[in-house]
Amino acid sequence: MYTHAIRRNSLWTATATVPQPGPLSADIQADVCVVGAGIAGLTTAYLLGREGKQVAVVDAGPVAGGNTQYSTAHLTAVLERRYADLERLHGPKRVRAAAASHAAAIDCIEGIARFERIHCDFTRVEGYLFGAPDDSDDVLDDELEAAIRAGLWGVEKVAQAPWDAVTTGPALRFPGQAQFHPLRYVAGLVRAIQRDGGRIFTETRATAIEGGYPAHVYTGAGPVVTADHVVVATNTPIDDRFVMHSKQAPYLSYVIGALVPRGSVPRALFWDTEEPYHYVRVQPLSPSHVWQGDEAPGTHEVLLIGGEDHKTGQVDDQGDRYDRLEAWARERFPMIDAVRFRWTGQVMESMDGLGFIGTNPLDSPNVFIATGDSGNGMTQGTLAGMILTDLIAGRDNDWAKLYDPSRRTFKAAGTFVRENLNVLQQYRDWFTPGDIASVKELAPDTGAVIRSGISKLAVYRDARGNLHQRSAVCPHLGAIVRWNQADRTFDCPCYGSRFDCYGRVINGPASRDLARVWELEAGLRRPEPMFSGTGLTTDTSW
Ligand SMILES: Cc1cc2nc3c(=O)[nH]c(=O)nc-3n(C[C@H](O)[C@H](O)[C@H](O)COP(=O)(O)OP(=O)(O)OC[C@H]3O[C@@H](n4cnc5c(N)ncnc54)[C@H](O)[C@@H]3O)c2cc1C
Ligand code: FES
Repeated sequence: MYTHAIRRNSLWTATATVPQPGPLSADIQADVCVVGAGIAGLTTAYLLGREGKQVAVVDAGPVAGGNTQYSTAHLTAVLERRYADLERLHGPKRVRAAAASHAAAIDCIEGIARFERIHCDFTRVEGYLFGAPDDSDDVLDDELEAAIRAGLWGVEKVAQAPWDAVTTGPALRFPGQAQFHPLRYVAGLVRAIQRDGGRIFTETRATAIEGGYPAHVYTGAGPVVTADHVVVATNTPIDDRFVMHSKQAPYLSYVIGALVPRGSVPRALFWDTEEPYHYVRVQPLSPSHVWQGDEAPGTHEVLLIGGEDHKTGQVDDQGDRYDRLEAWARERFPMIDAVRFRWTGQVMESMDGLGFIGTNPLDSPNVFIATGDSGNGMTQGTLAGMILTDLIAGRDNDWAKLYDPSRRTFKAAGTFVRENLNVLQQYRDWFTPGDIASVKELAPDTGAVIRSGISKLAVYRDARGNLHQRSAVCPHLGAIVRWNQADRTFDCPCYGSRFDCYGRVINGPASRDLARVWELEAGLRRPEPMFSGTGLTTDTSW
């Protein structure tokens, strides 16, 4: 059984039931094996199934148990990197294609929801981008011009974002954006995939992927999936050792969900230009959504406020970030009643602001990846389905080159160097003392990293006082993990692998748990050397 020890629960998991088919128990064959049942993997499986392909989806946990459940589900062509910057990096022609592709992804979600009769609260709304307090007027003006050049329809500057309580100052208005309930949508995809003959397996971790004809996906419990094509939709590729991870950086983002009286906040998407930026929207509730009985059905809805992003594993004030988010929200939305939800999730920020969809660099041509989705993973995951379905069917796709994982964006070289130097610096943890000198200092329900000879241990004392110890060396490329008290996780500051408090992997690129201490002592598992992993692509050392 796959359990997350993280004390977090998104609004979506509280208000939707997603079918969970169960594990793979025998070898199978398929036309396409999709690894990962988030929005990217399921959209790909759905669209391939509509074309008559036999699809098998395997997921290490439950369906949508990854970052899809932590989204705030803004569906927008207003890209996180912003158009003025994207134009500088990619030039006007490619940026027009990026805008058109994300708009098409929103249309695709709308079309699927309508065709499959998925009741996922899909609604067209406007988006508003407003300035940070100390921004000059130029920031919005430049963005307006770049967005117009990118072909965004109807964008204009208005004097104020449409909420009464606070003066936002000028804002850009983007018509034709959308929002939905991501888990209800995903649940509808699962039902449609199964209806079309697709097979979905949960609690089935892929431990190695071998390209070539046929390709093989090996799973932790033993069964093997043989397929003509493999799509690795694990949010960050688990079949790549270094190349793709050096092109993107993992960031944790924080969300609170607060009850507000129905209709008190306009139904729209809001973003500001702060660094890190805030993102806001409202999710309606149906009368059946009563969790604890102190709000009347139909009288409230949930205001979702996100922000406070930071590089994974590189801060120690995670708990304070929720408080800062709430203070920011209460100042601007005085109608907030009670905060009901707090959660975090990880986004992969690509160096040049666009995602990566296509064949995995240095791998066989029949192994595909989808990653680097930044804060636009709902549309990016949908685009992955649209593009990869064409590529697998042998058709041209107008956007395939734009999102090619092998592309080089020379104007993003500065970000590339900065982010990868930052990664190298994280290895200094091999030489620093532990967080505490002895496990005796650990209070119940807390964790730490302690020194053990030349290496380090990740230790957690559970609420009953039992001690759980694992190697603190991340199985991906040997960095030392760090304790995150807010989520009860050990987070890797290198490329964003995350482990629960018992050392079980919950986020790649690592695909193995932290090593057990007895495994190391018995020599059953080689401790990862500090700079292991010179292999550039598929990790076959499992
Ligand atoms: C707080 C937050 C807010 C966000 N808000 C927005 C937003 O408003 N709009 C937007 O467009 N995007 C948003 N995003 C981004 C978006 O939610 C994600 O990019 C998107 O959900 C990622 O989908 P995915 O399918 O690629 O990955 P995931 O949903 O993470 O799915 C990957 C799946 O792969 C599985 N997996 C991993 N390793 C293995 C393995 N070895 N074997 C088998 N399975 C494996 C996991 O269990 C998981 O189910 C937000 C993200 C966060 C964290
Ligand atoms: S994620 Fe690469 S070493 Fe941890």
